Amino acid sequence: MTTLLRATGLWKSFGEREVLRGVDVDLAAHDVVALIGASGSGKSTLLRCLGLLEPIDDGLIELGGEDISDPRVNANRVRARFGAVFQHFNLFPHLSVLDNVTLASRVVHRVPRAAAEDRGRELLQRVGLADKAREHPDRLSGGQQQRVAIARAIATDPEVLLLDEITSALDPELVTEVLELVRQLAADGTTILMATHEMAFARDVADRVVFLDGGRIVEQGPPAQIFGAAREARTREFLARFTA
Ligand SMILES: Nc1ncnc2c1ncn2[C@@H]1O[C@H](COP(=O)(O)OP(=O)(O)O)[C@@H](O)[C@H]1O
Ligand SMILES: [Mg+2]
Repeated sequence: MTTLLRATGLWKSFGEREVLRGVDVDLAAHDVVALIGASGSGKSTLLRCLGLLEPIDDGLIELGGEDISDPRVNANRVRARFGAVFQHFNLFPHLSVLDNVTLASRVVHRVPRAAAEDRGRELLQRVGLADKAREHPDRLSGGQQQRVAIARAIATDPEVLLLDEITSALDPELVTEVLELVRQLAADGTTILMATHEMAFARDVADRVVFLDGGRIVEQGPPAQIFGAAREARTREFLARFTA
């Protein structure tokens, strides 16, 4: 298996606080990797650093064999190779659902409007929101908005999809529809790195689970190992809080 995304020795501080302390992580194409860990362990920072949304202090990030942590790379060009969805949907409130989905294709990738909209409608169909193309985001439920955010993130055919606790801000009854969509994307072969507190989902869908604690990877492995037979006491202690 060839590595698609690899980080080696990532260090990141905010002021005096070391948030990532020598993180190594890699994803092969089509991998689905769940990033778990307590609040403040550095999950979001890691995702943001990998996607070049946050500068690193030290380390190496490679995407498709290219050193994207080299300060000479065109960061905007690299960012366009990732799709990202965050806890808060961050849709543009003044744009229609369809315009939200097609904006990056049209502006960053210079796809003509008609082609971008054809593809946008296809994506909305795929996320079950074909009938919402002309609505504004505030007319949609949180779960629907998050599905639009996912459609937007995959509209440019990103090489890696970064998902940061995308169901954490949703009412419980809206979580399933979003997780089902992620499950579909995973089944379709999308390469996904997702920070999540949905342990049952991670167990079900991830190929690998990475446990982050205090800015270090304590343990990683297949879900059956992490959830069933974790080697490290800290992993077991963390997981015990979810099953208590
Ligand atoms: N932009 C920032 N400025 C200062 N501190 C930050 C910033 N982003 C994150 N942190 C700090 O980094 C630590 C890890 O945060 P984060 O990566 O958000 O963890 P997680 O996503 O696992 O909850 C926290 O202590 C947080 O307060
Ligand atoms: Mg976070």
